[in-house]
Amino acid sequence: MSWDQRTALVTGGSRGIGRSIALKLAQQGIAVAVNYRGNTAAAQETQDLIRSHGGQCALYPADVSDADQAQSLVNTVVKDWGHLDILVNNAGITRDTLVLRMRMEDWDRVIATNLTGVFACTRAALRPMLKQRFGRIVTISSIAGLLGNAGQANYSAAKAGVIGLMRSVAREVASRQITANVVAPGIIDTEMAHQMTPEAYNQLLSQVPLGRAGRPEDVADAVWFLVQADYITGQTLVVDGGLVMD
Ligand SMILES: NC(=O)c1ccc[n+]([C@@H]2O[C@H](COP(=O)([O-])OP(=O)(O)OC[C@H]3O[C@@H](n4cnc5c(N)ncnc54)[C@H](OP(=O)(O)O)[C@@H]3O)[C@@H](O)[C@H]2O)c1
Repeated sequence: MSWDQRTALVTGGSRGIGRSIALKLAQQGIAVAVNYRGNTAAAQETQDLIRSHGGQCALYPADVSDADQAQSLVNTVVKDWGHLDILVNNAGITRDTLVLRMRMEDWDRVIATNLTGVFACTRAALRPMLKQRFGRIVTISSIAGLLGNAGQANYSAAKAGVIGLMRSVAREVASRQITANVVAPGIIDTEMAHQMTPEAYNQLLSQVPLGRAGRPEDVADAVWFLVQADYITGQTLVVDGGLVMD
């Protein structure tokens, strides 16, 4: 099947990195289902952008932290498009504060969206992918999941968690030609990055060997690379201008 016969679901595709990923996939001819939680105006902008480039796109509001909504999101996409070939788990939130000040609801909210949401969407997408014996799953983690980050214990735990989750999924479904990989971005210029204090942002930026913040397109390029890759699974691709070098 050529890429212009494939379909993709991008969670959190209304803004930021998710918007760039949705556009990148649509530019390859892939029909893209854009999920978002509540920002319909931003989602509409993404749809307009994709259509202005000649791409196919439809909008699917759902809260991925709710397993029932995640399941019906995937069911609806499969019903509308006939199949689901690519899942990009991109939706994410932050609730930053130091551990001693972190309320259980800050912990729970971030784990529910950034870790449980990825599990719920992945589990739902696997059924159609297993049947068709093809699938590409790419999950957006963060360098916080590799290094940890002061003030982001909840976020770092979730972002480390998705790496273990994707490695397990990769092993479970490799025999059906389904791959599961991770992209771990560093500082990427979106609304989320600018929730950091300017001091924290500039301090982190000063440590980036390539000397600039990443663009959402830098992450989208890595996602597209992993979508095309037939023989790469269970891997984490770091897109951070050289901040983390293992
Ligand atoms: N920006 C960075 O520096 C950076 C670095 C490393 C990793 N990341 C990761 O990259 C991903 C995208 O980040 P971003 O910077 O593009 O964030 P962003 O600009 O804040 O956008 C977040 C997106 O996620 C959606 N979303 C949030 N909660 C959701 C939920 N429960 N259900 C469905 N959609 C939900 C939002 O939808 P609405 O528009 O409806 O709110 C929005 O589309 C996240 O996983 C983030 O952790 C970002």
